[in-house]
Amino acid sequence: MLVLASTCQLFSWHDINYSQELIVQDFYLPIKTAHMSLAMISLLGFIIRGWWAINSSALLQQRWVKNAPHIVDTLLLTTAVLLMIILGQHPGNQGWILAKLIALVFYIGFGTLAIKRAPTRATKILFFGLAIATFAYIIGVAIAHHPTSWLGVT
Ligand code: HEM
Repeated sequence: MLVLASTCQLFSWHDINYSQELIVQDFYLPIKTAHMSLAMISLLGFIIRGWWAINSSALLQQRWVKNAPHIVDTLLLTTAVLLMIILGQHPGNQGWILAKLIALVFYIGFGTLAIKRAPTRATKILFFGLAIATFAYIIGVAIAHHPTSWLGVT
């Protein structure tokens, strides 16, 4: 009886682990695809707003143009957190994720300077370029899984 009970327990544990694994497998790819798509939407939106900022376009003042990036960036970060939970990897145990997080702060900073705060057209262009370069660095880090970014891509 004891053997039967422990065998049942063993099987149910096995089933639980198995179904948890299935859930992780089911969600990993769609979430990663969403994360990558949101990153591309974020970049595209930034390029368009950067272009409007450099050319002092009134289109930049539309309410939805100001709000949409916050929604996209919140979703981008949400998918990043979900990926970290699924993979059990985070800035505390993976240098490349920490590098991404720090670079993201720079990307947001350069982006804000380019679109809002830079006083002249030349400085807007400069910060726009720096933001794009930071974004390219982040993609390299994501692919290489290493802070050396594109230099680490084999
Ligand atoms: C502008 C910001 C970001 C961009 C452009 C970006 C881009 C990407 C790309 C292209 C991938 C797929 C890489 C691959 O496996 O081929 C990816 C995966 C991932 N990203 Fe991001 N990401 C950004 C922000 C973040 C942030 C802030 C975090 C966490 C703090 C993060 C965490 C992750 C994780 C955990 C993966 C999964 C890696 C794997 O499947 O092994 N991402 N990201």
